[in-house]
Amino acid sequence: MKVRIDPERCQGHGRCYDLAPDLFGEDDEGYGLVTGDGSVPAGEEHTARLAVSNCPERAIELL
Ligand code: F3S
Repeated sequence: MKVRIDPERCQGHGRCYDLAPDLFGEDDEGYGLVTGDGSVPAGEEHTARLAVSNCPERAIELL
């Protein structure tokens, strides 16, 4: 499983990196970034889904 943020949709709400700090970070302006290549480690799938469902812009995809 991988996560991806669509930069066209992200508005910097920050819920992804608040809820799943191991999977997401932020850039200098508070927009979300995936950590590394976006791979979700074993055991973090639930957290990844939580981030997806909490992004108000629906900017996060699971691949
Ligand atoms: Fe952006 Fe959604 Fe995270 S708007 S900062 S991807 S919660």
